[in-house]
Parts: sequence; C-alpha cells; structure tokens
Amino acid sequence: PVGAAQWVDPDADVPALREAAAGCRGCELWEPATQVVFSAGNDHAPLMLVGEQPGDQEDQRGIPFVGPAGQVLQRALAEAGIERSRVYVTNAVKHFRFELRGKRRIHQTPQVSHIKACKPWLEAEVAQVRPALVIALGATAGKSLLGSDFRITQQRGRRLEAVVGPTTVPVVATIHPSAVLRTEEGPDRDAAYAGLVADLRTALAEAG
Ligand code: URA
Ligand code: SF4
Repeated sequence: PVGAAQWVDPDADVPALREAAAGCRGCELWEPATQVVFSAGNDHAPLMLVGEQPGDQEDQRGIPFVGPAGQVLQRALAEAGIERSRVYVTNAVKHFRFELRGKRRIHQTPQVSHIKACKPWLEAEVAQVRPALVIALGATAGKSLLGSDFRITQQRGRRLEAVVGPTTVPVVATIHPSAVLRTEEGPDRDAAYAGLVADLRTALAEAG
C-alpha cells in the first residue's frame, strides 16, 4: 500500500482530519468498507484510547466502539473511574477489514502493512490531541504504537513510551475488550475483564 501520508495534513485539526480521512486510499481496505471510522470524543482529552479497527457495527454507523466490544469498554472505563469527557477514542486502522462468508462479514485482523499504511492518521491525531497518555487496546494498537515486535502478555499494564511521528508519549497497553468477549463465560472471563479494568486504572494513575 502507498500509505495515508498524502491525504494527511499534519497541521489539520481533528475535524479536518476526519473529513480528509473519508477520501483516504492509502491501502485497499477503503474499498469493501461502508465508510471510514475516524474517532470520537474530546479532541483535547488527557487520555487517548487506540483500538484495532472498526467492527461491523462501527463500519455501518461511522462511529468507533458502538458495538459489543464498545459496551465492554464503556463499562470498564466507568469502573476504572475514567469519565467519558476525558477520553478521545480512535483506532490503529480506520477501515473495517472483513471476509465475506455468505452474507456475513467476518472480522479479519489487520496486517502489519495496513497498520503501517494507516499510521500517519494516528500520528496526526496524537500531535493534535496531545494526550497526557495513550492507552493501547490489544495487539494491533500495541504494534502500531510500539513496533511490530510488541507482545501484549509481556508489555501490558505498565508505563511504556512511544514515539508517534514527532511526538513522544507515554503508553499503557492492555487487552482488547473483544478479548474479554472471546473468553469463555465464567471465572476466566471475569478475570480477563478485571485485568482490563486494572490496566485502565494504572493508565489513569500514570496520566497524572
Ligand atoms: N473494535 C475496535 O478495535 N474498534 C472499534 O471501533 C470497535 C471494535
Ligand atoms: Fe486509508 Fe487507513 Fe483506510 Fe487504509 S485503512 S484506506 S490507510 S484510512
């Protein structure tokens, strides 16, 4: 892929970036998707949450984290004492990657090439929002921010540092909320959810 750089004005504010992203052709994911899903929340929030990519419902509504994973995230944020007004929510990859099986659209994890192609948007967002801390939700966000050898099990739940374009910013990584939903219901899922909340609390404390 050619990457998003030619569509990104690094001095544009978030609303202008959002508008420009609708025309991005930096990789092939734009074509089968319904629309770009850019970001939501406070453009000057102290906390930036970075997910993987929009899911099926996000693709249809154009808003990040409005589906099942978003519900888990909302609950976990509330439980960690993080107010909605204090977060900006975005994704490492801004178009939904899926495979068609009959009429169903099945989520596919983005490849490193998609993560890299989409990174200029994230760089511009970090430069504009200037968060005190970024929370990486899952491996894709971790790879985008910290490099492709990022490993969630080894690096979650503590303060790390990411160089995102011209900006160096503290990062705390945790599991993706959809990983909670993929865990079998019962004590294992409860533990996964508790781990997510604990990492969000750590992030809040590290943000100061
Ligand atoms: N999962 C993500 O990573 N991002 C969304 O916006 C929705 C689900
Ligand atoms: Fe552009 Fe990112 Fe969409 Fe690819 S996924 S077309 S780089 S916005």
